[in-house]
Amino acid sequence: MPKDITRTGQQYSASTPYKLRGFRYLMGYHSRVCRLILNKTNQPYIYIDLNCGAGYQPEYRKFGDEALGSPIIALQELNRQDIEPVCHFCDANEESLETLKRTVEELKLKCKARYWLGDNKDSLLEISQDLTNSQFQGLMYSDPNGKQDFPIREIKAVFQLPKMRKVDLLMNVATTYVKRWETNPKANWKVYSLEEVIAGHGKEKIFVRNPENPSLKWTFIYATNWAKQKDLTKIQLYSVDGDVGKGILDHLFNPRSNPLPGIHEDGSVSIQGRLNFDIPDSDVSNSEERETEL
Ligand SMILES: C[S@@+](CC[C@H](N)C(=O)[O-])C[C@H]1O[C@@H](n2cnc3c(N)ncnc32)[C@H](O)[C@@H]1O
Repeated sequence: MPKDITRTGQQYSASTPYKLRGFRYLMGYHSRVCRLILNKTNQPYIYIDLNCGAGYQPEYRKFGDEALGSPIIALQELNRQDIEPVCHFCDANEESLETLKRTVEELKLKCKARYWLGDNKDSLLEISQDLTNSQFQGLMYSDPNGKQDFPIREIKAVFQLPKMRKVDLLMNVATTYVKRWETNPKANWKVYSLEEVIAGHGKEKIFVRNPENPSLKWTFIYATNWAKQKDLTKIQLYSVDGDVGKGILDHLFNPRSNPLPGIHEDGSVSIQGRLNFDIPDSDVSNSEERETEL
């Protein structure tokens, strides 16, 4: 698959629209659920983007997408629900952060933003020392370039803080890359197994997305402590405790012996063998319970 890098260092490809549309859907859903909770609790919403990029990304249009990256999409969806988040934007590229700052201002997006230049592992440590004592709602997003650059240990350490218990995690993972590097002696960074990437963050419930691209298998891993979080079938995101999610995981770990469950674009699933496909559509209707349960 052709792969490109923007002027400021963001890798993108024909898989990028799948990622960005899924991200916008998930941020819209998350904002609506959290809006209902914040109405009652007044807790701050925290958004931590570990690989924020420049936000304004005209190069993404090459593959037919909008020219906006994750930090701007997140702010648009949160502001739409009148949520003014506390934001921590991390990136190793200085020009990206400068462009992002300008874009946030030009689009008049509302947030309390801090910009962290450098390795996100160091930034995350500093952010965790900098958190107020509030109990947060929110989301942390990890979207590294190709290889397998997830700061899983640092993410886990931050999520062990009680004030981060209700903050969810989203990771954009090229599972083929992760497996390729797992055993490669040339990797000169901390290497994690696919299992660690999927489950090493310490959150209780894990969801996996039907992967895009048969060779690299880009997928979302979404993790939360909210026991009643439902599948988000519109973006083909399923709990790994259910048959469809399990089928996807089996495929990611061992594609040759496990074909993907037949998932249609609308999230419905073809009947195959042992699978039970009674999948409810997701809405925000059970969100009220989230506050009392977490
Ligand atoms: C795939 S791009 C992120 C794209 C962005 N999330 C979006 O939606 O447009 C990956 C980003 O991670 C940054 N990056 C790479 N290694 C990093 C590290 N160790 N710490 C922080 N940022 C890093 C790159 O500069 C790049 O902007």
